[in-house]
Amino acid sequence: MLRFLTAGESHGPALTAIVEGMIAGLPITREYINEQLARRQGGYGRGGRMKIEKDQVRFLSGVRGGRTTGSPITLQIVNKDWDNWSDIMAPGPEAHLHERVVTRPRPGHADLSGAIKYRHEDIRNVLERSSARETAARVAVGTLARCLLEELGVEIVGFVRRIGSVEAVIEEDLGTSELQKRTARSQLLCPDPQAEEAMVKEIDRARENGDSLGGIFEIRAYGVPVGLGSHVHWDRKLDSRLAGAVMGIQAIKGVEIGMGFGTAAVPGSQVHDEIYYSPDRGFYRNTNRAGGIEGGMSNGEPVVVRAAMKPIPTLYKPLLSVDLKTREPFEASVERSDVCAVPAACVVGEAVVAWELACAMMEKFGGDSLEEIKERVSQWRQLVRQV
Ligand SMILES: Cc1cc2nc3c(=O)[nH]c(=O)nc-3n(C[C@H](O)[C@H](O)[C@H](O)COP(=O)(O)O)c2cc1C
Repeated sequence: MLRFLTAGESHGPALTAIVEGMIAGLPITREYINEQLARRQGGYGRGGRMKIEKDQVRFLSGVRGGRTTGSPITLQIVNKDWDNWSDIMAPGPEAHLHERVVTRPRPGHADLSGAIKYRHEDIRNVLERSSARETAARVAVGTLARCLLEELGVEIVGFVRRIGSVEAVIEEDLGTSELQKRTARSQLLCPDPQAEEAMVKEIDRARENGDSLGGIFEIRAYGVPVGLGSHVHWDRKLDSRLAGAVMGIQAIKGVEIGMGFGTAAVPGSQVHDEIYYSPDRGFYRNTNRAGGIEGGMSNGEPVVVRAAMKPIPTLYKPLLSVDLKTREPFEASVERSDVCAVPAACVVGEAVVAWELACAMMEKFGGDSLEEIKERVSQWRQLVRQV
């Protein structure tokens, strides 16, 4: 079984993650994780924090000579901004607890509920951890999962479908490599260049108006073998686990698998994927409205997950709130924030989908070394073709 925990505050010394249960012998480089971390930091519409940080991972355990050893893997990402916060965030009695105290909860954030729940007078004790800075750790962890999937023939591609009112047009028959190429070229991870142009303008308009924007990203996993997840119990269903993982990303307010919400509006004949058989291909479909999952199990078609991200809650155009201490109304103002972070969220989406799929692969095929799991996956793929 694969598992992980992350720790770390936004302005603490570092983010840390421990991954346990990873097979031995998996090739992994710092450079590959750093590449994914850089993708998370990019995207048109990001704020000042991303100019301070240049995320780099350090392995503190579990990796030797470029391969995993089977021991717990500790990943660390240092926060450069810590230098500016070490007095305020210090763990000991020397901490300057009376500086930069936050008593003004921002609408749309964890601030108010967190302060009430944990009985904090300084909202900083909530916002430091609720911040999406934490997603850097999940991207690092997800990249380990991605390396495992790549070894097992599963490829993850994420892209941005919508920002605000602008929706990308993506040809149904666009091949994986073309989709990847176009997405990699785009500063918004949007494979439709015309839509991208309009999205940039929409972000500029939002910035000028002191507003923010959300959007929709899509993650596709190609090469997922039949039979991951299970129909037998709710918490083993692959769709339920993917939805939970994606919904667990800050600011995600909706998750769809395949046609998702669209299935509610049309008759069944336009929803379900008919089944065909040919001796060379085995069982196959001509459509993939189910997004590669039926009955909580992967069905061999690409897994397709979409997520809706709400607009960034910190606005330059002030929103009304009430001071925790004085109970006086005030207008929530901003020092530094993203206007739009949908491309960054998309990279986090790729990471969490990779993680869930890697967990499901480990559960179905198991093993302690790369050779072992590779052999089992290849046997399974062969067997499925012969069914
Ligand atoms: C990659 C990413 C970057 C984000 N950047 C910001 C930001 O700069 N300012 C902000 O107010 N919220 C930002 N958010 C959103 C908040 O973290 C999120 O809305 C907040 O923690 C409340 O959680 P909830 O929206 O899931 O309820 C970001 C989210 C993600 C995924």
